[in-house]
Order: sequence, then structure tokens, then C-alpha cells
Amino acid sequence: MGKLVALTLLGASLALIGERLLAFRQRINASREVEPVELPNCQLIEAIEAGSEDIDILPTGLAFISSGLKYPGVPNFAPDEPGKIFLMDLNEQNPVAQELKISDGFDKASFNPHGISTFIDKDHTVYLYVVSHPHLESTVEVFKFEEQHRSLVHLKTIKHELLESVNDIVVLGPEQFYATRDRYFTTFFLLILEMILDLRWKYVLFYSPKEVKVVAKGFSSANGITVSLDKKYIYVADPFTKSIHVMKRHDNWDLTQLKVIQLDSSVDNLTVDPATGDVLAGCHPNAMKLIIYDPRDPPGSEVLRVQNVSSEKPQVSTVYANNGSVLQGSSVASVYHRKLLIGTVFHKTLYCEL
Ligand SMILES: *[C@@H]1O[C@H](CO)[C@@H](O)[C@H](O)[C@H]1NC(C)=O
Ligand SMILES: *[C@@H]1O[C@H](CO)[C@@H](O)[C@H](O)[C@H]1NC(C)=O
Ligand SMILES: *[C@@H]1O[C@H](CO)[C@@H](O)[C@H](O)[C@H]1NC(C)=O
Ligand SMILES: *[C@@H]1O[C@H](CO)[C@@H](O)[C@H](O)[C@H]1NC(C)=O
Repeated sequence: MGKLVALTLLGASLALIGERLLAFRQRINASREVEPVELPNCQLIEAIEAGSEDIDILPTGLAFISSGLKYPGVPNFAPDEPGKIFLMDLNEQNPVAQELKISDGFDKASFNPHGISTFIDKDHTVYLYVVSHPHLESTVEVFKFEEQHRSLVHLKTIKHELLESVNDIVVLGPEQFYATRDRYFTTFFLLILEMILDLRWKYVLFYSPKEVKVVAKGFSSANGITVSLDKKYIYVADPFTKSIHVMKRHDNWDLTQLKVIQLDSSVDNLTVDPATGDVLAGCHPNAMKLIIYDPRDPPGSEVLRVQNVSSEKPQVSTVYANNGSVLQGSSVASVYHRKLLIGTVFHKTLYCEL
């Protein structure tokens, strides 16, 4: 009798997981075909072959690019190399990517950069905040950028019990930032289960030396995060629900949700077009192919533009789309003077005209 109950329970659980798996595949458009949308004068950036997960461009046109992410369940083309930060000067006619030197005294071997965010202080000093996963933990590393020497000087490591499975960060003041948590579990099997069962345990937190708190929760996954040009709104990408959450900032740093913009693509990272305030989203049109990687049937890339984000009817349009023959797994797109730089989780980097 006991055996029968156990078998029935096992059968029921498997059926439930099977049903949820199908629902999950549908939710992330597992096998969606990508209709190409092309841009003029695209070129792949040499030197970057192992991902360009995040890109942040300074108002002066210097672009920081994080590369070499190692994360459970995500392919990596340079598993034995530590992560890197590249710099590109987008004012140049044919910009090249140059690896930034990192000062001694920082454990470069375990550097595993993910989301990045720049911050410029009153004295015009540029700081680069980097989410890193040394030994698969989560830290926020603070660097000072020395333009003359093309180097990063490590200033400090920020750790906190709420800074778990951090994906992305947006810095709004000296050591004051919002960060997203993209997963609850870290082991691959539990992570898959978490995705399939759609456990909405992920959050956005606010960090400052004085106070650390969860300011928004209930995300299926909280991934890219960025701030509007007027700094009043925070945009959070949820790839599993294919949506962008528009949140209002309060004086005490709390966030309240204003609306959710539904897309048809698993949105990864967000940037804001400095000229228009539009949101640009690096998306995975068929995210399942990213998780189960097959080079013969690779994941595609898609860049969406959301205009009039704060109006009643934001308009979504496709800026770029490719089936993976040129660019696989786009995670971010950033604009500077009508040029578009598209980064990927583990593949190349594409530079196009708009
Ligand atoms: C993606 O999946 C949703 C259902 O989850 C469906 O409504 C939509 O049409 C799909 N999009 C494409 C392009 O297949
Ligand atoms: C996403 O983009 C924003 C803005 O460029 C950046 O601050 C953030 O770190 C990026 N995050 C990830 C995970 O790519
Ligand atoms: C992707 O598109 C190109 C043409 O744009 C085509 O030659 C190729 O077969 C397609 N690849 C896949 C995997 O669909
Ligand atoms: C929508 O945004 C564009 C710029 O991206 C702007 O030119 C236009 O006036 C806006 N329209 C509305 C209705 O706000």
C-alpha cells in the first residue's frame, strides 16, 4: 500500500513538473523563430570572444564592457580565464576594445564580472561598480577609473547577506545603489526547478553603508536594472515574464510599481538612450536555446526600443534581431551618438549604426 501511495505521489509530481516544464517552455518562447531585423554598417568587435554581458557608456563616449561571466547553466567560451573589463572609446572612427589593467592587491584570478554601473562624483572622478561572483558568491567591487593609465584601482569589496545571487546594479550616489537578485537557488538542478515552478522569490534591494533593505519583491527573476534620465524612475527587467517593471523612487529609496510593460522576448539588461530617454532592452527571443546550448541551433539576439516609457501607451519596436548566425544571446544594447553597441552573455559584441 505504502509503495502504491509513493508511486502515485511520484507520478503526480512528475506530471506536475512535466506540465510546468511545458508552461515554462511556452512562457519563454522556447523554439521561437527569429525574423531578422538588420542595421547598417555592423561590425563585430575584435578581442571580445567570451561575452560582453554588460555595457555602460559614460557621457564622454567611453564604454565599459564586462566579459567572461561564469555562471551555472550558462555557456562560457574561456572557462580557464578570469573575467575582464574592456574599454572602448566610441568617439574613434573604428573603436577597438582594450582590456583595462586592474591594480595589484585584488584577486584577479577569481574575478567574475556580471552587471556593472559607473558613477561620477562631484570631482568628476569616475567609479566603476562591478557585481562579481568569486567562487560563485556575490560581491560588489568598487574601482576608481584612471583614464590616463587605462586602469582600474580597486578600492573596496562590498558584501552583505542580502547581496545574494546579484545580477545587476545601478549606482545613484557614493556607495548607494539598487541591485537585483536573479535567482534563489544556486545549484543548477534547483535553479531549473525554481524556473520551472516559477517561484517568485527574487527582489530588488537598496544598499548604502547605513542601510540595506529589500525595496521591491515578487519577481520571477530580477535581472537588468537602470534609472531614467531624470532619476525619478527605476526600470527592472524580468526575463521569465518577459516584462519591464517601471518603479517610482521615493526619498527614502523605497520603490513602488507604476506599471509593467509586456514584451514578447526574455529581456535581460536595460539601458536608457541619453538623447531620448527611451529604454533599450537586450533580449533573448528564444531563451531556452541559451540554457540548453547547441552551436548548430544557437540562441538568437534581439534589441527592443521602448518609447514614451512613462506615457499611457509605451511603444515597443524591434531595433535589431538575428537568429544567432551573427550574434548569440544578446544581453544589453547601449547607444552613443546614433551608434549602437550590443553585448551578449557569452558570445561576441556588435557595433552598428542606427
Ligand atoms: C511567445 O509566447 C507567448 C505565450 O507565452 C505567445 O503569446 C506569443 O505569441 C509567443 N511569441 C512568439 C513570437 O512566438
Ligand atoms: C545593465 O545595464 C545597465 C545600464 O548600462 C548597467 O548598469 C547594468 O549593470 C547592466 N547589467 C547587466 C547584468 O548586464
Ligand atoms: C539564420 O539565418 C540565416 C540567414 O539570415 C540562414 O542562412 C541560417 O540558416 C539561419 N540559421 C538558423 C539556425 O536558422
Ligand atoms: C514619444 O517619444 C518620442 C521620442 O522617443 C517623442 O518624439 C514623442 O513626442 C513621444 N510621444 C508621446 C506621445 O509622448
